[in-house]
Amino acid sequence: MTSLYAVFGNPIAHSLSPRIHRAFAEQTGVDLRYEARLAPLDGFAAALGQFIAEGGQGANVTLPFKETAFRLCDTLSPRARRAKAVNTLGLDRGGIAGDNTDGAGLVRDIEANLAYPLAGRRILLLGAGGAARGVLLSLLEGRPACLHLANRSPAKAEALAAEFAPAAPLPLLGGGFEALAGQSFDLVINATSASLGGEALPLPAGLFAPGALAYDMMYGKGETPFLAQARQAGAARCADGLGMLVEQAAEAFLIWRGIRPATAPLLAELRAELRAELRAELRAELRAGPSPAAQP
Ligand code: ATR
Repeated sequence: MTSLYAVFGNPIAHSLSPRIHRAFAEQTGVDLRYEARLAPLDGFAAALGQFIAEGGQGANVTLPFKETAFRLCDTLSPRARRAKAVNTLGLDRGGIAGDNTDGAGLVRDIEANLAYPLAGRRILLLGAGGAARGVLLSLLEGRPACLHLANRSPAKAEALAAEFAPAAPLPLLGGGFEALAGQSFDLVINATSASLGGEALPLPAGLFAPGALAYDMMYGKGETPFLAQARQAGAARCADGLGMLVEQAAEAFLIWRGIRPATAPLLAELRAELRAELRAELRAELRAGPSPAAQP
């Protein structure tokens, strides 16, 4: 019998999750239907209730419902409890079981796909909102040399660091961007939403140690604003969050079906498609010529 899964979000139309999970299902021979469902901003619980009534066996949850979903769960994995947010729901064992695969997805992308082990690295995590909180525990479990949190509102980074410090077997500090002056890191991860507003982050010179990796949890068709900034500031390697997206999905698939799908072929395919879309957009712009406003 076909199993039913879905991703809930608002907006959701451009989500790659249906595409990713259908590819995993095909690869592993699992018979499933996976849909994108738009929930009203104030109607996630009702939309999930409807899905459960339809026999939905599992769901992914994306912005802005991860915290609401957390509150609806009957049981939580330890990592979801720490994150205070869930992105993966199991619905087929009576009750709602919440998990959070974002941190595992990020770490797997960095360590396995990018071949950049976290152990012993100096890590800087930019941001102190839900995205940063969701990956913090997994980063700490990678046993870096130290982890520094920097945020526009320093108090939020300080509070987050203080909350996780008792569980951290390594120095974990939080503060503002000014405190970064004179420091350098092996891995700098952007978990802020600054680029959505087109704003650059106030990163001091010398932030990237030789050979450093800059990682943006966001992704796009072209280079993200943070990665452009990081490259100009001397980051040796840059990676966007497409790999994290695919890996968090693989981890969710493993939870639901007990099989970890291979991710490399799909990741390469998605990346090639995004590049092709970008090229097509640039060619269309070229054909259209300068916009009236840009003419002298
Ligand atoms: P998310 O769940 O995506 O993390 P969030 O909880 O709203 O969303 O957090 C957004 C993060 O991006 C915060 O760390 C925010 O900094 P503040 O705590 O100071 O608000 C950060 N952020 C958003 N816009 C930013 C900007 N222009 N410059 C620097 N940081 C920014």
